[in-house]
Amino acid sequence: MSSPFLTLEHDLTAPALPTGSPRLSWTIPPGSPAQTGYAVEVTAVDGTVRRSEHDGDESVLVAWPFEPLASREQVEVRVRTRAADGWGGWSEPVIAEASLLDASDWQARMISPREGHAAGDPAPVLTTEIDIPDDVVSARLYLTALGTATVWIGDRRVGEDYLAPGWNAYRHRLEHRVHDVTDHLLAAGPRARVAAVLGNGWYRGELTWDLRLCYGDRIGVQAQLEIETASGERIVHGTGPDWRAAATGVLADDLYGGQTTDLRRPGALETAAQASGAVDVLDDVPALEPALGPDVREVGTLSPLGNWRSPSGAQLVDFGQNLVGWLRIRVLRAADGQQLRVRHAEVIEHGELGTRPLRKARAEDVWTLPAVGPEEPLVLEPTLTFHGFRYAEIEGIALEDIELEAAVISSDLNRIGWFECSDPEVNRLHENVVWGMRGNFVDVPTDCPQRDERLGWTGDLQVFAPTAATLCDVRGFLTSWLRDLAADQRADGTVPVVIPDVLVPDVDSQFAAGWSDAAVVVPWVLYERYGDLAVLETQYPSMTAWAAAEYAAAGESRLWDTGFQYGDWLDPTAPPEDAAAAKADKGVVATAYLVRTLDLVARTARVLGKHDDAASHTERADAVRAAFREAYVRADGHVLSDCQTVYSLALAYDLLGTDEERAGAGRRLAELVEEADAHVSTGFLGTPVILDALCLAGRPDLAHRMLLQRGNPSWLYSVSMGATTIWERWDSLLEDGTINPSGMTSFNHYAYGAVADWLYRSVAGLAPAAPGYREIAVAPLVTGDLTRASARLLTPYGEAAVSWVLREGRLVVGVTVPSGSTATIALPTDDDVPAQVGPGRHTFDVAWRSPV
Ligand code: BGC
Repeated sequence: MSSPFLTLEHDLTAPALPTGSPRLSWTIPPGSPAQTGYAVEVTAVDGTVRRSEHDGDESVLVAWPFEPLASREQVEVRVRTRAADGWGGWSEPVIAEASLLDASDWQARMISPREGHAAGDPAPVLTTEIDIPDDVVSARLYLTALGTATVWIGDRRVGEDYLAPGWNAYRHRLEHRVHDVTDHLLAAGPRARVAAVLGNGWYRGELTWDLRLCYGDRIGVQAQLEIETASGERIVHGTGPDWRAAATGVLADDLYGGQTTDLRRPGALETAAQASGAVDVLDDVPALEPALGPDVREVGTLSPLGNWRSPSGAQLVDFGQNLVGWLRIRVLRAADGQQLRVRHAEVIEHGELGTRPLRKARAEDVWTLPAVGPEEPLVLEPTLTFHGFRYAEIEGIALEDIELEAAVISSDLNRIGWFECSDPEVNRLHENVVWGMRGNFVDVPTDCPQRDERLGWTGDLQVFAPTAATLCDVRGFLTSWLRDLAADQRADGTVPVVIPDVLVPDVDSQFAAGWSDAAVVVPWVLYERYGDLAVLETQYPSMTAWAAAEYAAAGESRLWDTGFQYGDWLDPTAPPEDAAAAKADKGVVATAYLVRTLDLVARTARVLGKHDDAASHTERADAVRAAFREAYVRADGHVLSDCQTVYSLALAYDLLGTDEERAGAGRRLAELVEEADAHVSTGFLGTPVILDALCLAGRPDLAHRMLLQRGNPSWLYSVSMGATTIWERWDSLLEDGTINPSGMTSFNHYAYGAVADWLYRSVAGLAPAAPGYREIAVAPLVTGDLTRASARLLTPYGEAAVSWVLREGRLVVGVTVPSGSTATIALPTDDDVPAQVGPGRHTFDVAWRSPV
């Protein structure tokens, strides 16, 4: 008897859910008969059982069929499905527990040290002692902070996360996280110390190229420990005025700047035991909400590949991979007072650490050591900061006296997508995209993780979101970010260019095509890839407000050709000092985006059953399309400013009106690509669509040529130069091995990595054709350039896969369709293949026909 596999809401690992009505998703084992109904059963702690039965085949994010759970309420949930032959078996039960859902659930207060609370003061530890009853059944720690907090109960650290609670639109909302601390209490004995070390984090760290403190000037912690006893009692301990404070040996900590620690001072727990400083209760705390995304955690370690002395005599270490995290240093020998300094960089230039791209981010960790001998080594780890680096320079200690590894940190996202093909450099490109995402998905999706920026640039995510949603399960992560976006969206509907918005008030009025459009594109991507309708419902006011503001920006002419624009940012022909000087006309680009946003909002309104809104947005989209064609498009398909980006946008966003226009635009795009010998000639906004546009133009052969081009500019140029992440510029590293002279040169920017989505959809041929891959479009573009490709994806319905091999004119394609899903099949062959297949594994062995 087949049993489903059940998950709740966004499948987070936290012990409690951010909602009382968790949606249910389940997958059914391959080969199971089609579902015709389902039953949900919950068992309360007191043994009461409720059941609810439904007809239908839904299995993804199914509405909670009972009364919402109250804060802290815990039930056991299981599901089973019905098919034509009757009921299947029950799933394994899953615990559903609600977090603290309401402000009134909090007794704890946000506390901050009374003395030594200025920016630049040592990291404080705040502490109290608690009695632990001898009949503890379970315990939870609900935790948030202004800044970051790391908590210990007794001598055990709580959780495995870093930089908690993460970065939110702090002026409006602050997330809290929850930990199961039952074992901590059981291990601690009758009385235990609770201690929280605070870091500046994003809340009081230096942010932006101006190194500004963007939020409050006092950091604090709010922690509530709730203990359930066997006698049914709930004992609550919360941070409050009775807690004590002291300064730790972390003398300075900053995300950009790094961490300075004096290890001759007593450790945090010893300091806490002696703490006598008073604390203040802070009243001005943003609205608390349970965290929607996963923790930031250590997700891997890397050993050094090698080390050497630079021409200037510096000790350099290479980890072989551009990564985000820090060095874990095991000191074997040191003299009392010896100072160890670590600097970080992504590249080596002229044999030395190439720190110029970091701009004002010092990215330097300094340790003052006590006497250390090999019998008792000391492990150093700067957990209140992070760095983007591949190389490190170690000063003040001989490499023989230490052992090194790099700890890689990231939001702990579940990987769901894998791709492979016959070209090892394309595989490395894909791997570089994965590494770029890992390092830039540290609680907020950022442009880059290393220099004095690391901001949630909306344009970067707007183009990368489909790839992000393919590589990892980003439902919770991006749902949280979209809440921040809606919170920071201005009253006039305009959407800031970074979220959380830290450019206020300087760039207060700034919004831009392709950047602010993230408000509409990102929710749509989550719906398209995961079938998550609620994200559209929740974001709908934000989406429509942005669509209205953008439409208003176009004014009477319906052309958005005035005001500030980044345009096709970082076009490879733009001079290093002027990234906005693209070939593509800014009005063409912005108006194209306006149509796309109006189209997506119209589709969203339709899906949500808001038919009047759908009609009005469609009408607006049509009016802007007509204005676009009138102003920018000639009857023969020529588009104003005649470059790869404008044709790509016109084709991909369906801006052309006649077959003649479409054919002409396609021909011209192909000509431009051929003239460029298939080098990329697009920036941030043209790049994500050009390969799709070439395919729409009937030239998948050119799309492959462009993908496989190795010269500069191209995707594989960076790979051939040894890149291990995606670069900000096509030529962040010049052909002579020197760093691009621009003041804006990162080696870890995911935007151009948006091509990975195309690898899955078009090279392997695995694309969503209905929300959540309920319908899959299997249409690999086999041009003969690659001889095999495969993609595997854990869709909400289960594992989907396509793999193909081209050998001696035969194309063999394997397709896996999960239960509950169907696939349409379009292969480059004249042989007969079924147009549609159902769940299961299918193989097609056909005579290959070149698609061009
Ligand atoms: C960032 C970009 C961002 C851009 C705005 C840069 O400094 O690194 O990725 O989107 O500014 O155009």
